[in-house]
Amino acid sequence: MTYQYKSMITGLAFSVPKKKMTNADFEKIVDTTDEWITERTGMKVRYIGEEGQVTSDICTEAAQKAIAEAGISPLDIDIIILGTITGDVGFPATACFVQDKLGAENAAAFDISAACSGFLYGLTIADAFISTGMYKNILVMGGEMLSRIIDYTDRRTCVLFGDGAGAAIVQPSDGNRGIIKSIIRSDGRLAELLIRPGCGSKYPASQEMIDKKLHFLQMAGQEVFKAAVKSMGDVAVDILEQTQLTSEELALLVPHQANHRIISALAKRIKMPMEKVFINVERYGNTSAATIPIAMTEARDEGKLKRDDYCLLVSFGGGFTVGAVLLKY
Ligand code: UT7
Repeated sequence: MTYQYKSMITGLAFSVPKKKMTNADFEKIVDTTDEWITERTGMKVRYIGEEGQVTSDICTEAAQKAIAEAGISPLDIDIIILGTITGDVGFPATACFVQDKLGAENAAAFDISAACSGFLYGLTIADAFISTGMYKNILVMGGEMLSRIIDYTDRRTCVLFGDGAGAAIVQPSDGNRGIIKSIIRSDGRLAELLIRPGCGSKYPASQEMIDKKLHFLQMAGQEVFKAAVKSMGDVAVDILEQTQLTSEELALLVPHQANHRIISALAKRIKMPMEKVFINVERYGNTSAATIPIAMTEARDEGKLKRDDYCLLVSFGGGFTVGAVLLKY
C-alpha cells in the first residue's frame, strides 16, 4: 500500500516537573495502598509541579527541545496548538504564554480543550493545516498541571494523575514518511462522566462552589473505564481497516496512559502483542494530553520507535473525546 504523506513529525520532546510523588506518599495522605494502586492502575510514580510553576513553563521546556531537534528557530513557527484542560489562567490561551516564553513572535497561538485527546486533536489540526498548504511549521503540544485541579483527599482520583508536557514540531512531509490518517471523535452524551464542573459559566467562583468542591476534577471511574475500552478499540480497528494496515505491520502502539488494564484490553482487541505496546504509566501516572508525546519521546529514545516504523497512537478523554493517528515515523 502506498500512502500520500502530507505532514511529518520532525521534533519530539517532553518535560516533567522535578518533584516526585510515589504510591508510598499517597499511603500517608489517603486510605490507599501501593498494592491497590499498582494492581488497579499500574502506576508507581507521578511528577507534581512546584509552587509557582505553571503549565506554560513545562510546555515551553518541551517545546524548546522539540524546536532544537527540528533545527528551526522559534521565529519560524506559524501556529502553536496546545491541548490542555489546566491552563495557566482562565483566559487567555496558555499557548499565548508559551509563544511569549519561546519568542515565537510570528505564530498564531491557541488552546484546544479535548482533555486527554488534546495532543491527537492537535496533530490532526496540524496535518490539516499543512495539507492545505496554509502553514509549514507547527508546534503541537499536550501539557497539564492536573495537580492543580485534584482533590488530594479523594483516593478515587488523586492517585491517578500527574503533571507533564510533550511537544512535537510538525512540518511538510519529505514524501517518504509522515501522518497516514487521523480520526477524531466526540460523544457529548458522556460529558458528565469526567468533568471539572466549577470555574466556568455554570458554576462561577463562589464560596458555595468551593465548599461543594466543584473546582476539582470528578470522575465516574468504572463508566469511564468501560467507555475507554470500547471507544479506543473501535477507533483503532477503524483506522487499521481504513488504511489497510494490519497489527503485524505496526512496529508500535502508543496509547493514552490512563490505566494498564485499559491498555491491555486495547492491545487484545487489535491483536497487538504487549511487547509492541509502549507503557510508561508506572513512571508518570496519567498526564492527560501529555501522555502520548511523553510516551512517544521515550519510545524513540529507547530505540522502540525508529524512523520509518508504522506507529499507531490512540487516545480517549473527557468530553468524551477519542483520537487515533496512524503514522510512518
Ligand atoms: O484519562 C482518562 C481518565 N480516566 C481514566 O481512564 C480512568 C478509568 N478508570 C479507571 O482506571 C478505574 O476505574 C479506576 C482505577 C479509577 C478505579 O478502578 P476500579 O477497579 O474501577 O475500582 P472501583 O472504582 O470499582 O473501586 C473498587 C474499590 C471501591 O471500594 P468498595 O466500594 O468496593 O469498598 C473503591 O472505594 O476500590 C476503592 N478504591 C480505592 N481503594 C484504595 C478506589 N480508589 C482507591 C484507592 N485506594 N486509591
